[in-house]
Order: sequence, then C-alpha cells, then structure tokens
Amino acid sequence: KFTPRVFSGIQPTNHLQLGNYLGAVKRFVEMQNSGIETIYCIVDLHAITVWQDPVDLQNATRELAASYIASGLDPKRSILFNQSQVPGHAELGWIFNCVARMGWMNRMTQWKDKAGKDAEKASLGLFAYPSLMAADILLYHATHVPVGEDQKQHVELTRDIAIKFNHDFKVDFFPVTQPVIEGAATRVMSLRDGSKKMSKSDPSDASRINLTDDADTVAQKFRKARTDSEPLPETLEGLKDRPEARNLVNIYAALAEMTPEAVVAEYAGQGFGTFKPALADLAVSKLSPIADEMKRLMADPAEIDRILGDGAARANAIAEPILAQTYDIVGL
Ligand code: ADP
Ligand code: NA
Repeated sequence: KFTPRVFSGIQPTNHLQLGNYLGAVKRFVEMQNSGIETIYCIVDLHAITVWQDPVDLQNATRELAASYIASGLDPKRSILFNQSQVPGHAELGWIFNCVARMGWMNRMTQWKDKAGKDAEKASLGLFAYPSLMAADILLYHATHVPVGEDQKQHVELTRDIAIKFNHDFKVDFFPVTQPVIEGAATRVMSLRDGSKKMSKSDPSDASRINLTDDADTVAQKFRKARTDSEPLPETLEGLKDRPEARNLVNIYAALAEMTPEAVVAEYAGQGFGTFKPALADLAVSKLSPIADEMKRLMADPAEIDRILGDGAARANAIAEPILAQTYDIVGL
C-alpha cells in the first residue's frame, strides 16, 4: 500500500561529528544513490527543545545543509530542507501529542538522559520530542528511517503512534515505519569515555571528531583516544571485553568500507602506536574533501538558502495533502 520512501533528520547543533557521518549521513547518501525516494531534514524545531542562541542556530542550520551536500546528498535527487519551513511538522506533532501517552514518553531513555536529575526544569518540548519526530516521519508516509542505534527507541515509538492512530480512527492511513540501523558504525562511542556514545552535544571536544577538524586535530584526538595497551588480536572475538579498541576498529571499518573482521585480520598483532596513526590518516583522507567542500558552500549562504527553500516547497507538496487527510480523519 505504501510506496517506499526514506525520511531522516539531524539537529542543527554544533558541527557534525564522525558518529553522525558514519551512522547517519553516509547511509543517507547510500540510500539516495540506491534510487529510492529520499527526504532529509534539518530538524531545527528539535534543536530548540534545549536553549539555542538564535544566531548560532541559523549558522548551524546552513552548516548542516553544507555538510549534507558536501557528503554527497544531491538536492536534485533528495529533498533537503529545514523543518520549521514546513508548518505540517508542528501541526501533525500536536495531533500526535494527543495520540501518544505520557507513559510512553516517560519510558524514553533519551528523555531521561537529556533531562538529567532536574526533569522539572526541562522544557515541555524535550519531553514531547519523540512525538514531533513521529510527525516528521509520518507527515511523508515514510516507510524507512536510517538512524543510529540511539534513535531506535524513538522509531519504535513512531510505530506505536501510527498503530494507535490507525486503530483509534479505524483507518489504515499511516505506515508502520521500519528503522534502518545497519553497518559497522551504528553506535560510535566517545573517544574519552567508552561507555558514552560520541555526540556533538558532549561538552568535551576531545570526545569526538568533528567534520570541520583539521588533519592535526584529527591525528591528536585519535592519538589521545582512550584504549588499553594490548596489540590487536587475530579475530573480533578477542575484542569482546575491549570496548575502546572495538570502537576504533568499527570506525576504521566504516570509513574503509571493510568489515571489522577484515580490519582486525589486517592489523593483527599491531599495537595502537601503529593503528591509531593509520586510522587518523584514513579519517583525514575521507573527511578533508568534505570539509573543503563545506567551506566552499558556506561562502555562498544565499545559495544554501535557495536550496533549502526549494526543498521546503517540494516537501510541503507531499506533506500538505497528507496533513489535510489527517485533519479530515480526526474531524478537524
Ligand atoms: P547528536 O547526538 O550528535 O547531537 P543527533 O541527535 O542530531 O546527534 O542525531 C543525528 C543522527 O546521527 C541520528 O540518526 C543519530 O542516531 C545519529 N548518531 C548520533 N550519534 C551517533 C553515534 N555516536 N554513532 C552513530 N550514529 C549516531
Ligand atoms: Na541523538
């Protein structure tokens, strides 16, 4: 009943980090190039669930658009746009606030992490975030959502909302969307703390590789990455209790488009004194062309705004009839 359509989004906060690139953007490009219809959003309404300086937010929005394009997203083959420019996201988000249950939201681990100890002081928007995310996806009847592992629970909640809406209104209107979480880098870990995922909102810049880092910074961050002092084993099995080492192998594998098995086979018996510089060289060779292209694109902000405006018009053309039908179903 539903034609295959891909939707995903990233928040315009800080610079993209290697986990966003390997776990999300690189996959977005692969899906675009596979010929399926792809819609990629800059989710600025999600960004403001925590405080954003308005000028920084605008700059981060343009920079994320530049990161998308420099990474290989083609504004002609994919729809690239900014969430706040398509009003249907907020409108459907409200309807889904009335479908989703408080208890569902309370179980979201990201809410618990982000709200911290003082949940009373978190914004209401942060609590309702997964309901807006469901609206982002279902506003386009998207069937597939490529994301990192940290977003799995939110996509499951999107499925729950679609099922409850269809059930409550006795319709088969929203698809039950599939998360697409594949590859060696679905959860890239912090370089400083093997128990946390790499994040662009981590206060420690040394915990992540930014797409905008220069070659020396990349080399230094990998050199200082926490690891044990054992050489790499013959097989992946030997990395079972070595999460930091496993993380670097996964990063290498995703960048080189190899399996983690092939990476340990290649470096078996070598220490991090050899592996880390090889990883840094590989990362620089893959990321520096993207950073250069981002700089070129950022020099012409009017052209970025034009691309996003065109994308918003095309996104809106898909969203409007779906929202209108939703209003009809609900009786609005
Ligand atoms: P961040 O936590 O860096 O602010 P976002 O919440 O904006 O990132 O997530 C954007 C996309 O990047 C999502 O699909 C998310 O699952 C993915 N992602 C974020 N961090 C990682 C990571 N460390 N490893 C793999 N994918 C990630
Ligand atoms: Na995240």
